[in-house]
Amino acid sequence: MKVDPYEKAWMVAAVVLLTVFVATVVVSATAQGLHPPSHVETIDPVTCRSDPRFAELGVFDLEDGSVEVVMLAQVWAFLPGEVHVPAGVPVVFRMTSPDVIHGVQVVGTNVNATVIPGYVTEVVTTFERPGEYLILCNEYCGTGHHVMSGKLIVEDEEAGS
Ligand code: CUA
Repeated sequence: MKVDPYEKAWMVAAVVLLTVFVATVVVSATAQGLHPPSHVETIDPVTCRSDPRFAELGVFDLEDGSVEVVMLAQVWAFLPGEVHVPAGVPVVFRMTSPDVIHGVQVVGTNVNATVIPGYVTEVVTTFERPGEYLILCNEYCGTGHHVMSGKLIVEDEEAGS
């Protein structure tokens, strides 16, 4: 079969591009450990308030020195509405929703995830800069969406603030 050299070049280029794209997905999913924020951990949205994983909301110290933030995103507030975490240590956010889909964004940081009823969203990050951060819902969730916000205070442990 006779293939025009010009067309052949484009076919080769297309195959090379596709290989690069697939390789990017495979490398990010395996070597870099990227994954959906739910970890596909499921929870019953109807009973999530009494589920042992979410019965107690707030900030908890973990044995390995990191901090866990257990939070509910619901119409139209984050519970608790204000959380205090230390700077410079890993913070594990664990969130779920008892009603509709919400977003959780800590403005000025890399925390930005979707909170879906039926799933547990888990995000791990370390806040290096102490200060006050705004937590926003960035997923339209009803008439009160625009007032759905919270506050994250990153405390400088060494300064004792
Ligand atoms: Cu919750 Cu928008």
